[in-house]
This record gives sequence, structure tokens and C-alpha cells, in this order.
Amino acid sequence: MPGFSLPNCALGVATAATQIEGGDLDTNWHRWAATPGHIHDGTTPARAADHWNRVAPDTALLAELGVRHYRLGLEWARLEPAPGRFDADAFAHYRDELTGLRDAGITPLVTLHHFSVPGWFDDAGGWLAPAAVRTFLRLVEKVVRELGDLVGEWITINEINVQAVKGWLYGEWPPGEMSLPRTIAVMQALLEAHVAAYRLIHELQPDALVGAAHHLRVFRPRHRANPVHAASALATRHLFQGAAVRAASTGRFLPPLRTPRGVRPGRYADFQAINYYTRNTVRGIGDEMATGVPVNDLGWEIHPAGLVELAAWAHRVLPVPVWITENGTADAADSFRARYLYEHLAAIAASDLPIERYYHWCFTDNWEWAEGESARFGLVALDFESQERTIRESGRFYADVIAHSGATVEAHDRWVAGQQYPIG
Ligand code: BGC
Repeated sequence: MPGFSLPNCALGVATAATQIEGGDLDTNWHRWAATPGHIHDGTTPARAADHWNRVAPDTALLAELGVRHYRLGLEWARLEPAPGRFDADAFAHYRDELTGLRDAGITPLVTLHHFSVPGWFDDAGGWLAPAAVRTFLRLVEKVVRELGDLVGEWITINEINVQAVKGWLYGEWPPGEMSLPRTIAVMQALLEAHVAAYRLIHELQPDALVGAAHHLRVFRPRHRANPVHAASALATRHLFQGAAVRAASTGRFLPPLRTPRGVRPGRYADFQAINYYTRNTVRGIGDEMATGVPVNDLGWEIHPAGLVELAAWAHRVLPVPVWITENGTADAADSFRARYLYEHLAAIAASDLPIERYYHWCFTDNWEWAEGESARFGLVALDFESQERTIRESGRFYADVIAHSGATVEAHDRWVAGQQYPIG
């Protein structure tokens, strides 16, 4: 190495509505955050990065970084504040934002559902209500009809597995349940919602590119020779991501999932969208972090080779282009983010897979769900009090990588060479 080029992979950044927009809304997450103890630092999404009021300067900041692709989310509770009642002002706001992005030469990739749902949707039973999928499709149809002239790339649902497991199995996220059957039922509903949304978007917009963003992890047995550890790793892999990715992209629903009525095996993704952060060690039910390995501020292992390993697997499941729709790290001191970026992008550069897109998580620091404002994922640092934005050195490095379609030796020496990962 130490330089590499990435001529075939377009580079961008990602965000999600609830994590940056701010606003006193009625969503499941605003409700959840109102209960002390649910969010580690006691914050709520009401302020976040106040992006709702700062769209123009934030678009200018994206342009300053040289970003050409931006993944953003829409807040369902803004668009449909009451069942079946859509808010024209909210649609107009997003039209302005999308128009501004396009005028700046930035192609939007829009997420339709990223963890947050309106309070009324939850009151009606959330994803376990019999009408849930139909209710979601009503939103999808409206959004595609209203905004489809400005958007040609869609993520239907973000991280079906993470939503289901954190919300219904571990009880760490709303609605705070701990039930395996309900976790599987939620996964099933979200997968059905994806498949139906994929079809619907293509009916309305035949040329659209549509996928579901999957959170994928490497699961390694703690001791490879231990058959219990090895079997646990296999089972966890299948239950957490294998079954869901197969169902969402090929329509093949393996146990414990059930094939929904009317769904035949086929193609339900135009790209395999992967959110990749870390590797877990497994020795029983559940997962754990290894020790003595490079870690980020949250203790997540940093394992760049896993990105390509998982991309290869997803590409075998459905051979379409791979888009890395999230990859990033919590690093408040910005002391290893440039190295993290460099090593993950170098792994992509060295692979011969069709990895066409890479969106770094996150554009700015944001409201990190249960971590609140405490975990810093941004290429741009955010002072939550003053709302001042400051491009981090890692952000400058990424801008340089974008400008050169790769990392030059000079950039490596300037931003990466001196950085080391903490060891956990
Ligand atoms: C989610 C993001 C989140 C990120 C970092 C992903 O699982 O899609 O919303 O902020 O991880 O924790």
C-alpha cells in the first residue's frame, strides 16, 4: 500500500431523520426517551443536530466535503401526523431539501423507515398489528408519488434485525419487550413490509433502485475447536442475519420465518445494502465482544476485513451490486477514525466484488438512540449546545479521499500513519 484507488466505488455519507432533525414529535423514540433510564445520558431526540432548521447550511457542508451521494431518512411522524392524514408542509420541506441536494450535485438515497414510527402507529399495535404492513405501504405510496421525481434510490427499511432484537428481545429499545416469539413475528412483519414495498415502488417507478439496509456482523466462535461455540456462531448468524437477508433479497423465507402468502422466490433487492460496524465473539446464546482487540469508544471490535467477507456472502445470496449503506465508528477524540476509514476502504479497494457505493456513518455527530448524545460518529463534530459544526480531521481526510477517488500516499502519511486503535 499505503495508497489505493477506488475508481468504481462512489463515496458518500449517511444520516437518519430522528438522529439529526430534532423536533418535539410524537414518535416511539420520543416517548421512549421521556422515561428516565432509557437513554444513557438522559437526552431526547428533540434537539439532536437541529437539522430540520439547518438544511441549507448542512447541504453546503456536504458540498464542502465533496460528497456526491447522501443517504438520508424521512420522519414518518412528520409526513403522516395522524393515520391517513398527510402533512403537505412536511412534504414541501423534504422537496426543498431534496431539490437543494440535487442542485448541489448530490444524489439522494432515501430511507423510508429507520427505527422511528409515529406514536399512533405504536398505539395501534406497532409492527405486530395485523394492518401494520398495509399502513406502511400507504406511506410508501404517498412518498413515492410526492417525491419520486426527485428520488430514484430507496432503502425501504433500516436494519430489520437490529430493530427486532433490540426492541423485542433485549428490551433495550422501544417497545422494551423481551420475547423470542414476538421478535420473530416483528422480523417477519418487517420482511413482508420490505418485499411489498419493493414491489410497490417498482410499480410506481419502474427504474427505481430499491433495497433493505441490513446490519451484518461477523460472528466468530470464541474457541474454534469448541463445538458448542461453533454451533452457537452458526445459529446466531442464521437467526440474526442469514434468514432475514435471504428473505429480503430472494423471497426465500427459511425457518423460523414463514413464507408470506403471495410471495414467491425472486429478486427483491436491486442492490445488497450492508451496514457494517463490528465483529462479535460467540460461545452461547447472544453475543459478546472479544478482549485484547482494537475497539472503538463503545467497545465494539474494529475488524476491517469483515466488511468484504460479509459483502462476499451477501453477493452470493443475491448477485447484485453491493452498497455499503453505513460504516463508521464512535471516536469522540477523532484519534482513530481516519485509520478506520482508511482500512475499511482499503479492504474494498483490494476486493474484486462489485461494491459500488460506500456511505460513511455519520455525516455529523447525532443522537445515537440509547446512547443519546454521548457516542460521536460524525465526520463533522457537533456542539449540541451551540449547534456549531466543525469538520474533524477525519472529515478532511475523507474529503481528500473523495477528491482523489482513493487515498494518496500523502493523505495516508498526513492523517492515518500516526493513528492507533485503542485496545479493549
Ligand atoms: C444504525 C444507526 C446507528 C449506527 C451506529 C446502525 O445500527 O442504523 O442508526 O446510529 O448503527 O450505532
